[in-house]
This record gives sequence, C-alpha cells and structure tokens, in this order.
Amino acid sequence: MLHRPDGLAAKRLLVIGGGKPDKFTSAEMRKAAAAAVRALKSKKLQRLAILLSEAHRSTEFAEAAVEGAILGTFEPDQHKTTDKDDARPVQSFAVCVPGGSEGLDAAVQRAQTVAESQNLARELANEPGNLLTPLRLAERARQMCTEAGLECEVLEQDRMRELGMGALLGVAQGSDAPPVLIIIRYRPDKAAEGAPNLALVGKGVTFDTGGISIKPSDGMEKMKYDMSGAAAVVGAMRAVARLKPPIPVTGVIPSVENMPGSRAQRPGDIVTSLSGKTVEVLNTDAEGRLILIDAITYAERLGCTHFIDAATLTGAIVVALGHVRVGAFSNDEDFLKRVLASADRQGEKMWPMPLDEDYREQLKSAFADIQNIGTRYGGAITAARFIKEFVSDGKPWVHLDIAGTAWLDDAKPWAPKGPTGVGVRTFVDIAMTWQ
Ligand code: BES
Ligand code: ZN
Ligand code: ZN
Repeated sequence: MLHRPDGLAAKRLLVIGGGKPDKFTSAEMRKAAAAAVRALKSKKLQRLAILLSEAHRSTEFAEAAVEGAILGTFEPDQHKTTDKDDARPVQSFAVCVPGGSEGLDAAVQRAQTVAESQNLARELANEPGNLLTPLRLAERARQMCTEAGLECEVLEQDRMRELGMGALLGVAQGSDAPPVLIIIRYRPDKAAEGAPNLALVGKGVTFDTGGISIKPSDGMEKMKYDMSGAAAVVGAMRAVARLKPPIPVTGVIPSVENMPGSRAQRPGDIVTSLSGKTVEVLNTDAEGRLILIDAITYAERLGCTHFIDAATLTGAIVVALGHVRVGAFSNDEDFLKRVLASADRQGEKMWPMPLDEDYREQLKSAFADIQNIGTRYGGAITAARFIKEFVSDGKPWVHLDIAGTAWLDDAKPWAPKGPTGVGVRTFVDIAMTWQ
C-alpha cells in the first residue's frame, strides 16, 4: 500500500502483483480484484477504484474485475456472532474504463448477478449438516426461486417411492432426515422450435458419513460440503433467471443425508434404479453416483436433451488432479468442448478425463446389472463410467467431479478457506452462449 502517491488524486494506492503482463488474463484480473477487496477488510478503507490499463479496456476485464470484487467480499462466517472477518467491508467499488467501452453497463450488471450467485452457492456449501438437511436445502432453493421468479417443484419421499427411485431412496434410508428431489425450471419467453433443454444436475448429499461403510473420523467434518454440486446448481439457476439465456434450463437436485442408522443400506444390498437397472451396492460410501443416476433418468423423462452433472464424487479425482482442476468426463466430444470452452472463459480450471469402455469391466456384478464401485485404481473414472451406464445412448452428457475444487483447505489472497462455488460461472456461461 502506497500512501499519498505522487501525481494521483487517490490517497492510497494498493499494488497487487499480477504476474507476467502477457499472462494477465481476465481470470487474473478477477483474482486481483478479489485480493484487493480482501486486503482492505482489515483496514478502514471503504472505497476502492480500479483503473483498467490500455491493454485491458474491455467488457471482459471490467466484468472480471466486478466479479472479483464481489467474490472478495465473501466470508464463510454466517454463523459467527463475534470476530467476524468482514466487520468493515469495502462499501463501494468502481471500475474506471477511460474512453468507455461498448456494453459496459450490461457487463457490470451481469458480473454482479453471477458473482452474487456464486456467493450464494458458497454460503449454501458452507452450511453444516445439522442446519442444512435435504428439506432445508429444498426450502432454500424455493426461497431463491420465489425471489428470482422461477418454477420450483420438490418431490418428497412418497412420490419417489411411487416412481421407483430405488437407488436414491436406498442411500436416504439410513437417515431420519427425509430425501428430496428438487426441480427448478427456467423457460425463455420464446424458445426456438426444437431448442435444446439443458439439465444441470447437482449432487446434494447434505452430509456424507459414508453410511455403514463409514468414513474415518479424521476430517469427516468436511463432508458437509458434499452438496457443493447442488449449491452450484442453485446458484447458477439464480443467475439464469436474471440473465435470461435463449434456451430452457432445468436444475435437478437429488438430496439425501448419508447416515449409518439402523435402517441403513447394507453392503451387498441390491436396489432397482428409476431406469429399471439393478445395482449391487458394495460400498455405501459410493452414494453420490446412486442418487445422481435416478436424478438423470428423471431429467431425461422431463424432456431434457443435454446433461451436465456437478458432484463432489470421489477422493480419487483429488489424487489425479489435486485441488487445481475439475475432472470433466463425457460421452460426447462436441458437448465436452463446449463445456471446457465456457470453463476456460470463466477461469474455472477443468481437465478432460478418459472414459474408455475398458473401465466398464471393473463394474461387473455377480448378482445385479452393475455394482457401484470398481477397484482401487482409476476410481474417478469408474465412478463416471457408472453414471454413464444410466445416460441414454446419444444423449450428450458431461460429468464434473468437483471433489478437489469445491473447497479450499487454505486461504488464498483472493479467497478464504472454505467453499469456492466452483461450477456456477461455467454453468451460466454455457447457457448464455448457447446458439
Ligand atoms: N463424498 C465422497 C467423495 C469425496 C472425497 C468428496 C473427498 C470430497 C473429498 C464420496 O461420496 C465418496 O465417499 N467416495 C468414495 C468412493 C469409494 C467408496 C469408491 C471415495 O472417493 O473414497
Ligand atoms: Zn461417500
Ligand atoms: Zn459423497
């Protein structure tokens, strides 16, 4: 921080390292703006302005700066009553673009909507399991839909029994908290004839103990974020409602609590999924895939044509890609490209993962159509391959394993330790850029 810098009207100048000039992308701009807001929290400074340099006078950079500033305000302190980290947050933020730029106002509006939606996803992901049960998540989704003007439908346990969602219900049965399937619909005013209908499916395990295949207690508290995929869908739908993309978008959220109660599913149990296929549940901790398959089948029945799921699905993706990139799996090259292009534009790092037929072998069950786990090796891929089994042939689908990227274990200059809200910006970009 430089005080009374020479030749500037501003009283203070905050300097943030942005790396090499030719590598300074809008993703770096977003992080720099977030870091600036975070750096000023401990000071008494309440007004901040960023002046875009000549090379960056574009809506893309202005948008990223505004997003960064709003993302920088997020603190996972909704349950702190004292010592809140954002006691004196920045009150105003200006982006100065000398000479102006076409579409700047719209870009700033868009940025605000998207960043606030991403912060909503982060707030939800941070809620502990006792406070955010599947029913409470449904309430929060409903509340968002009322505010944003979206249709929201919540299928409860009885209805899911009638429909035959045996895979989802099997996971839920070990908990006293009843499961839900949340459906959020956005329809454009005039959708083109034969327009695609994009399904966004988010894993909503409000707490994952592992069930009878119980997890070690060390670090188990983190499993409150096992509904980060669901949170990303709620956040994205909020933004979609306001930004009005040209195609219909349907959010589908299967939500359960995975507990080892006395009626819990046992290893070896065989369940019948909504698709009719039977699954041998060899490990009750591989529950995400079980709830996702019934949600995807249901989304197909709703008439969705393209499917993206986001899920904190496997520890194996963390082994493969660390905490840097989201693993992206698909049955359709073109659709995967579209998703990766959106992710790239939005600075959400992803990486394409393989899905060869050879991996199917690991899922052969002696007693049912398929089993829910493979061997120790390639765990993120066999998980994805399991889900693919339930996506109808020819339906484009992308699976995003966000287990390594939905939560930051250590604070960064641009973000606190905690939920990242990954997925929201990519989801919104896909819908907005569809043609
Ligand atoms: N929710 C976990 C995956 C996870 C692990 C998310 C670490 C975030 C951080 C998932 O339900 C799970 O338990 N997966 C098992 C699968 C295994 C039993 C085949 C895993 O990854 O260990
Ligand atoms: Zn699990
Ligand atoms: Zn899980």
